[in-house]
Amino acid sequence: MADEIDTTRVICPLHELADPGARGFTMGQGEWPLKGFVVRQGGHVYGYVNYCPHAGFPLNWQPDQFLVPGGNTIRCVMHGALFEMETGSCLSGPCLGLGLQRLPVHVRHGYVLLDDSVPLRDPN
Ligand code: FES
Repeated sequence: MADEIDTTRVICPLHELADPGARGFTMGQGEWPLKGFVVRQGGHVYGYVNYCPHAGFPLNWQPDQFLVPGGNTIRCVMHGALFEMETGSCLSGPCLGLGLQRLPVHVRHGYVLLDDSVPLRDPN
């Protein structure tokens, strides 16, 4: 039905995402699932691939630790690059001028969902 949500694309309930806050996720099957994260600021939620444009490492070491503590800026723990929450653009650090790869997400019925436009790998 048109009003139902695709449970395979649920990232998390919105109320579990602090404001500001972040949540990592893995979606899809097979050896190379999609690894991403979402960040929330006010009424907006933004999604990104968990891949730093500097050297290709994940941005976090600890689960869900994507933001500067107590702040509203995305940080890569590897070499300290900072990124704007709303755009993923690098604000400072070794990848200045580059940006995170955006993942379109939306909120529906109280859940944060990955958009249908993002392909998920099929293991077959
Ligand atoms: S890998 Fe992210 S700043 Fe170097």
